[in-house]
Amino acid sequence: PGLFHYHNGELYAEQVALNAAAEQFGTPLYVYSRAAFEQHFRAYTDALGDWSGLVCYAVKANSNLAVLNVLAQLGAGFDIVSQGELERVLAAGGDAAKVVFSGVGKQAAEMQRALEVGVYCFNVESEAELERLSDVASALGKTASVSLRVNPDVDAQTHPYISTGLKDNKFGIDINDAPRVYAKAQQLPGLAVKGVDCHIGSQLTEISPFMDALERVLALVDTLAQQGINIEHLDLGGGLGVTYRDETPASVADYIAAIKQRLAQREDGGRGFKLIFEPGRSVAANAGVFITQVEFLKLNDHKNFAIIDGAMNDLIRPSLYSAWQDIKPLQQHSDAPLRHYDLVGPVCETGDFLGKDRELALSPGDRVAVMSAGAYGFVMASNYNSRGRPAEVMVDGDQLHLVRQRETIEQLFADEQLIAE
Ligand code: LLP
Repeated sequence: PGLFHYHNGELYAEQVALNAAAEQFGTPLYVYSRAAFEQHFRAYTDALGDWSGLVCYAVKANSNLAVLNVLAQLGAGFDIVSQGELERVLAAGGDAAKVVFSGVGKQAAEMQRALEVGVYCFNVESEAELERLSDVASALGKTASVSLRVNPDVDAQTHPYISTGLKDNKFGIDINDAPRVYAKAQQLPGLAVKGVDCHIGSQLTEISPFMDALERVLALVDTLAQQGINIEHLDLGGGLGVTYRDETPASVADYIAAIKQRLAQREDGGRGFKLIFEPGRSVAANAGVFITQVEFLKLNDHKNFAIIDGAMNDLIRPSLYSAWQDIKPLQQHSDAPLRHYDLVGPVCETGDFLGKDRELALSPGDRVAVMSAGAYGFVMASNYNSRGRPAEVMVDGDQLHLVRQRETIEQLFADEQLIAE
């Protein structure tokens, strides 16, 4: 059975019935499977095999400390984009020496902290950032390892909001301009050029855009070699997609095999390049579900609504990207009639839905699971409408662990104060 599966008509995560989790911790609720996180992460390290490299889980996809800790125990590296993410990694027992620091807007204080704890590499996204990093490192008397994140201008063929490798977006340095910026990096004090980095987008299902990007990165590496700049690692970013509905993404094994094969065609056998990956979604998405309970049914003339206790503030992907995530009943058997429902939350926005036109047999009090919610779920939750964020639990075999308490109403405005009279 899969790690989320039906058993005697009940939806389970590993050996725990999701209804039991909901009884114990209430709804809305995120439930993760430890084994699924481990399996998805190991797919990367297994595929890498004896090729030297580092799999840096993209913390932004799901940054719960328990998740980071489970991966740290497998020897994971981490891709971070803020000091907050860095501190989470450290708090979860992650190794700073396996951290890559990405992101377009790193602040000086964030750079300083990352240098103090000794991150593996900074993925630098602009010339101005390069100068700032050089200043910060020099002032500390440290040397920052750097990769430039280049923008190879390839079409990732994904949703425009999550496509990052085209010329027109804010990420990275134009690959045609990269040789000049690398030369500058070589000159600036406090920096050591280590690698080339690129990330072209998210939820890619085809291997070809990755290969197009790799081709351009390799051409750059050769140009740099002629300039006397040696590249030790290639950071190929994250971006491999998952199945939400009927997508058939390339497997991690095929994706990495294709890259190794391409590198092996090089004169030197390509082994001189350490490979770094930054997977987020492909590790986390199908390792979690979001559980919500039906409050009311509203049967109008043309539309049936199931009003649920989960909302866009808890899981924003459907509202923000028109993302489709499967919705499954926790209990398969029901006396209620099958109808087509829009599943909508209590938030005062027409865009507040988790699914539209889903055929389900529902009664008030029934619970459903929004599937594939382990990535970009809780991390994107907000307090809109003054709703506390949901609890998170992790299943490990037949054990259920609370890994984040439900946010309380007191916590919602504990940091606020009235103006002084
Ligand atoms: N590395 C960098 C530099 C990134 O910007 C990202 C994701 C990743 C790695 C991880 O990519 P992944 O393997 O997860 O595709 N909130 C959106 C996705 C935003 C992705 C942002 N960058 C969603 O829910 O679809």
